[in-house]
Amino acid sequence: MSSLFLLPCAAAALAPETPPLKSIAPFRIGAAINRTQSADGDPVATAIVTRQFNTVTAENDLKWEKVHPGPNRYDFEPSDRYVDFGTRNGMFVVGHVLVWHQQTPAWVFAGEGGGKLDRETALGRMKEHIAAVVGRYKGRIGGWDVVNEALEEDGSLRTTPWLEAIGEDYIAKAFELAHDADPSAELYYNDYNLWKPAKRDAAIRLVQALKAKGLRVDGIGEQAHWGIDDPPLEAIDAELAAFRASGTTPLVTELDVDVLPRDPDMWGADLAKKAKIRATTNVYPDGLPDAVQQKLARRYADVFGLFLKHGVGRVTFWGVTDATTWLDDFPVPGRVNYPLLWDRKGREKPAFEAVADVLEKNIGR
Ligand code: G3I
Repeated sequence: MSSLFLLPCAAAALAPETPPLKSIAPFRIGAAINRTQSADGDPVATAIVTRQFNTVTAENDLKWEKVHPGPNRYDFEPSDRYVDFGTRNGMFVVGHVLVWHQQTPAWVFAGEGGGKLDRETALGRMKEHIAAVVGRYKGRIGGWDVVNEALEEDGSLRTTPWLEAIGEDYIAKAFELAHDADPSAELYYNDYNLWKPAKRDAAIRLVQALKAKGLRVDGIGEQAHWGIDDPPLEAIDAELAAFRASGTTPLVTELDVDVLPRDPDMWGADLAKKAKIRATTNVYPDGLPDAVQQKLARRYADVFGLFLKHGVGRVTFWGVTDATTWLDDFPVPGRVNYPLLWDRKGREKPAFEAVADVLEKNIGR
């Protein structure tokens, strides 16, 4: 009889539960959540998010096309649920994203009367949007991705409808308006591939120019949609060191690790070509082989080592479990990818243990 009571305790003693990541990370740690998850409709994800994380980002629900689909038409229901989810769970709530050229409805970039969009109209729309959205969540959304993906790979400013209508100061205007709407909120510049030296240095120059104008900028966000072999660790190391040296905190805002083979043609291919690429690159349709699980775990351990080394301010995974990753459909639709720390059923992967291990070993250093 007594052994019945002893056995579970003995098992627990042999396999102590890994502490939640938020209890061992020296930076904020979290995940992007989708609309179902904000509405408590995905209990597996909710259990992971509430146990492991202390910050959330809305994967889509605060983007312009979702929250402000028509002139004078706002849909705040999903974003209200998102902010409630984070607040209720005591989390640092991130707003993603205010000014971007994607997921912005066509009306925003259309000129009055069918003409070309002019500076005053564009600035007026930006101002109204930022005042309404940031103002609604004043004091509850702790930090905003103010401008997203404003740079080309060579470091030049991306030609977007915002740039064309307003001019180069559209970025400064966005930061100014966001600060006016909530002076207590942290404000970030967010982009991808900032490990590329030309783009990295341009982001630093951009943020320094904003600060020189007296504007508030709290972080440079590297999206960190990375592959299992690239970018090289040396490039990430140099990137984070450069951000630190520039005096702006680096943030890892959209982390995931694509494990599928890359085809150089896959980014801009048409659907027929993508179908061909899917046939040759969807190589793990029935599960991730153990050797690749281990390689993914090592990759995660390596990049977390760099996050600790350079004192990033936050790490946010772009999704919770592999079940809902955007990488199943990008850049090639209909593949099975495995980029996160939890599998499709919400079970911890070796990559989770690897991250926890690196964070635990860092404590007290
Ligand atoms: O909700 C509809 C669904 O009803 C429909 O059946 C389905 C058919 O395609 O589409 C669903 O909407 C998709 C939506 O994600 C929700 O899953 C959209 O097509 C799809 O375009 C959208 O993709 C999002 C993407 O941004 C759009 O640019 C991804 O979820 C989201 O993860 C991704 O996030 C971006 C960041 O905002 C910026 N950095 C890059 C990152 C990855 O692209």
